[in-house]
Amino acid sequence: DLYNFRLIRPDTKVYGIIGKPVGHSKSPLLFNAAFKSVGLNAVYVHLLVDDVEKFFEAYSAVDFVAGCSCTIPHKEVAVKCMGEIDPIAKKIGAINNIVRRPDGTLTAFNTDYIGAISAIEDGLRELNGATPGVGSPLAGKLFVVLGAGGAGKSLAYGAAQKGARVVVANRTLELADKVGGQAMTLDEVASFHPEDRMVLANTTSVGMKPNADGTPIPKLALRHYCLVFDAIYTPKDTRLLREARESGAIIVYGTEMLIRQGFEQYKNFTGLQAPEELFRTLMEKHA
Ligand code: ATR
Repeated sequence: DLYNFRLIRPDTKVYGIIGKPVGHSKSPLLFNAAFKSVGLNAVYVHLLVDDVEKFFEAYSAVDFVAGCSCTIPHKEVAVKCMGEIDPIAKKIGAINNIVRRPDGTLTAFNTDYIGAISAIEDGLRELNGATPGVGSPLAGKLFVVLGAGGAGKSLAYGAAQKGARVVVANRTLELADKVGGQAMTLDEVASFHPEDRMVLANTTSVGMKPNADGTPIPKLALRHYCLVFDAIYTPKDTRLLREARESGAIIVYGTEMLIRQGFEQYKNFTGLQAPEELFRTLMEKHA
């Protein structure tokens, strides 16, 4: 039922998600249902891959594979196997979406940052009552990113591209310094409030199950933020988001980033708009 086996034919396009482990990924469920909903002759499978470089050598040589997604631990190693990389994905140093062109060239994108930034922009528009799609509500905003790992860099570069003034706070200051923008420690960010109505994005693992009672920033500091995003989605409602809500901020869930990055991948794979309601319904049903 997951792969719609009866529909596989010699000309079926094959997509997949490479990772290790990969069996837990919900992507095959979402993409196969989406292909089916518009009658696309395509299938999307789990691909347990160990050696990424060998995989991409074979991948560019076979014309039935049309694209793939990339998850832990391959998002950074895969960068060097690509022919073309989206400029921001290159700056971030991580990719998660690869399309094979008819001539075999591999083109790569990072849809994680697009998913997160678009969710945050829509949150701000809701707050301001602004028209969707007109300019970026992030322009000129003070945007504080907690964490300087892969996700932290994605958010920092994505927000800077939209014209936000970016601050990166990390437990280890040296790593925050490398991202660019203003750098500080997590301790310092607790008393950092040069202005009100700032935007906060947590990308540290503080507050993730099984340590869901943790939070990366004291509640008292949250009153200076108008919007708080948490990249963590287990649990969905983290302590940080609960305390942000109690402090009067609008909140954006990590699940929203997950769903929206999938919309972008579908668009890159097929050239079509993603069936957004279908994705949302399936994610909720299989949470
Ligand atoms: P991801 O790809 O999700 O960004 P990552 O690259 O492993 O994952 O980054 C994890 C981030 O969480 C890092 O910023 C890490 O801080 P350090 O650079 O100091 O290691 C942060 N992090 C993890 N555990 C933390 C903790 N207990 N307190 C504060 N920060 C923590």
